[in-house]
Amino acid sequence: MKSFLGCVAFVLAQAPLTAQDHVARDRHEMHRLHQDPKAYIAMLEDPKRDAYQKPHEVLTALKLKRGEVIADIGAGSGYFTFRLARHIGDKGRVYAVDISPEMIVHLNRRIRDFKLKNVVTILAAPDDPLLPEASINRFIICDTWHHVENRTHYLGLLRKMLKRGGEVVMIDFKKEKTPVGPPLEMRIDRGDLVREMEANGFRLAAEQTFLPYQYFLVFKLK
Ligand SMILES: C[S@@+](CC[C@H](N)C(=O)[O-])C[C@H]1O[C@@H](n2cnc3c(N)ncnc32)[C@H](O)[C@@H]1O
Repeated sequence: MKSFLGCVAFVLAQAPLTAQDHVARDRHEMHRLHQDPKAYIAMLEDPKRDAYQKPHEVLTALKLKRGEVIADIGAGSGYFTFRLARHIGDKGRVYAVDISPEMIVHLNRRIRDFKLKNVVTILAAPDDPLLPEASINRFIICDTWHHVENRTHYLGLLRKMLKRGGEVVMIDFKKEKTPVGPPLEMRIDRGDLVREMEANGFRLAAEQTFLPYQYFLVFKLK
């Protein structure tokens, strides 16, 4: 529930261009979203998001290889999951990992409707993505890390789940005022994230700076 509320806050903060002026509208929106996860999914999938999320540029920067195995942690509606799946081909696999049963049902429906063979959903635990050891080439964690509790423990699991040479891609909102994104107090500062990763066996291997509101960091094992 905590993470769903966090996501609601993310969505609400995502809509300031329409809602920044009215607290009452925010409350109304929050109530509606509490009652209706589909509305939340629709907002995550809002085509207007592409303008700042730049999914095509993100996927190009990742230089995905056909056949690789990716885990999209906090897959949500599948905004990145399904784009990733198109790039890695039928021999690859995307694990769409989420703790929200509503998101998993939504993802499963899309997988069935689009007859996808390379996407597998995982209804995970908040402190464990429940993936096999040494199975993942790349973790993609977009707008989700700030929801994860006990992150030291979680990073220990990610280390075990990575294949040799694998990486963890973190995309999240800069801790500064931006027109979209979660409340500042929920955000993780870029420097703090780098320090957290370094303290847990990772090193910053690459960084992309083309996203206007988010940092985009790539970590590998030390
Ligand atoms: C803001 S949404 C981001 C969704 C997606 N990554 C995107 O960029 O559109 C965060 C998602 O993370 C999920 N989530 C929160 N805590 C999680 C955890 N500990 N493990 C896996 N998923 C989590 C939520 O249920 C939600 O679907």
